[in-house]
Amino acid sequence: MDYWERHLDPDLSIDRSLRGAVKGKVVVITGGSSGIGEAAAIRVAEAGGKVVVVARDEEKLADVRKKITDGGGFVKTYSCDITDLAANDKLAKDILKEFGHVDVLVNNAGRSIRRSLALSYDRFHDFERTMALNYFACVRLTMNLLPSMTARKNGHVINVSSIGVLTNAPRFSAYVASKAALESFARCAASEFHDENVHFTIINMPLVRTPMIAPTKLYEEMPTVISPEEAADMIADAIIRKPQRIATRLGVVAEIMHLVMPKMSEVVMNSAYRMFPDSAAAQGKAKARSSDRPPRSDGLSRPDAGAFTGK
Ligand SMILES: NC(=O)c1ccc[n+]([C@@H]2O[C@H](COP(=O)([O-])OP(=O)(O)OC[C@H]3O[C@@H](n4cnc5c(N)ncnc54)[C@H](OP(=O)(O)O)[C@@H]3O)[C@@H](O)[C@H]2O)c1
Repeated sequence: MDYWERHLDPDLSIDRSLRGAVKGKVVVITGGSSGIGEAAAIRVAEAGGKVVVVARDEEKLADVRKKITDGGGFVKTYSCDITDLAANDKLAKDILKEFGHVDVLVNNAGRSIRRSLALSYDRFHDFERTMALNYFACVRLTMNLLPSMTARKNGHVINVSSIGVLTNAPRFSAYVASKAALESFARCAASEFHDENVHFTIINMPLVRTPMIAPTKLYEEMPTVISPEEAADMIADAIIRKPQRIATRLGVVAEIMHLVMPKMSEVVMNSAYRMFPDSAAAQGKAKARSSDRPPRSDGLSRPDAGAFTGK
């Protein structure tokens, strides 16, 4: 009996490594030309996945393409502003035409804005811009790919959200609300597609040392900031296990505090709000970001450098 359990259990033959999960599989990573997305793209390609990287800037795409192909991996890149919904539709069509299907979609491209509400009364566009990328673009691409996933009864959508949704981080109302919207979408979708073997994972990413947070000097000394490679580990874990949510201990503690002691957690976050002011850029004292300059004459979008202060 013991012999059969040790040798014939079908579970024993399942490869639970990233390689086992992605070898030969088509993995689309939006925002895969920088930071977390780039680290994840490299990791998946090293494990034998067919990586499809989507971002706007051609030069950054060429860089990641070189890194992956130099390492012997497979990658195809698409330059697309996914907030342009017609371009988003075409992107999905082009990917499906080229690969036939998508096994894993990682909704990772995002923009963040750290600015208090008191400085945002005349900045409704901050709320529109975060929703455009962090919510509508992700929903559009997911909806574009879902029919092919349900047809094959196989699919996985990973949404890179933020620890801010669990901590109700002050100064991040525009950003956190857009990520919370994406989380709610994913949770409802998961209820609809569970029996069709299409799964949804939310990752409440902690702070990660990427170009996104570079403008916020406050984060330089923070011990809880992880590297893009550690963030890629979280994405790899999501791909392998397909859990509903991945969060760090700090995020879980903050969420529990909010549920069990909501007023206390509000006081704690309010104290943090008073201790750490808006950055110079958020106060309008620093240089405007590249993406706030007038549109380029060739019609292409500017890269989204320094999004964490989101002038
Ligand atoms: N860094 C953190 O501390 C942190 C914490 C929690 C959650 N997150 C989340 O993690 C994700 C990745 O962040 P990151 O820090 O790695 O950012 P990042 O280094 O700034 O990279 C952002 C990526 O998104 C692409 N992108 C931006 N706008 C796009 C658009 N309209 N269409 C297509 N691609 C677009 C960028 O390329 P182009 O500019 O060339 O398009 C780039 O590849 C985001 O969703 C972010 O909200 C980050």
